[in-house]
Amino acid sequence: MQSVLFVCLGNICRSPSAEACLRARRPDLRLDSAGTGDWHVGEAPYGPMQKAAAQRGITMSDLRARQVQARDFHDFDLIVAMDAENHADLLALRPSDATAELVQLAQFGPGTPDHIPDPYFTRDFAGALDLIELCLDGLEADRLRRG
Ligand code: 4NP
Repeated sequence: MQSVLFVCLGNICRSPSAEACLRARRPDLRLDSAGTGDWHVGEAPYGPMQKAAAQRGITMSDLRARQVQARDFHDFDLIVAMDAENHADLLALRPSDATAELVQLAQFGPGTPDHIPDPYFTRDFAGALDLIELCLDGLEADRLRRG
């Protein structure tokens, strides 16, 4: 089974959204999400983010934030960062014998911005979901086998 870990800063907005959106499409994949920071460890996704997702039928209330760990580079096939800061932080954490491929979600969205803007700060939760869904189309087509 292919496995994907989505990583953002807090693990309460972008990465749990990407995890939940992809799970809705692809129950055949092993999915998780994590944050580079530890401020929200153990918390459910941010309320306004959950609400925006629920409006399009995506549930993520059961998810709980955790911090990314070096061993994730052995536990997942693909690690997907939401912006350049996440990507840089992950590169610093990556063990020399890592097996996971590290990518950025926005690289799979043709014509989209080069990162997923953080809705915790922009407050555009619906826009973040639109961009995540668009980039997941490309991620699926480029990296994720069927079945
Ligand atoms: P996320 O958004 O990285 O998409 O989960 C954030 C949520 C909370 C904080 C930062 C980013 N924070 O600093 O508390």
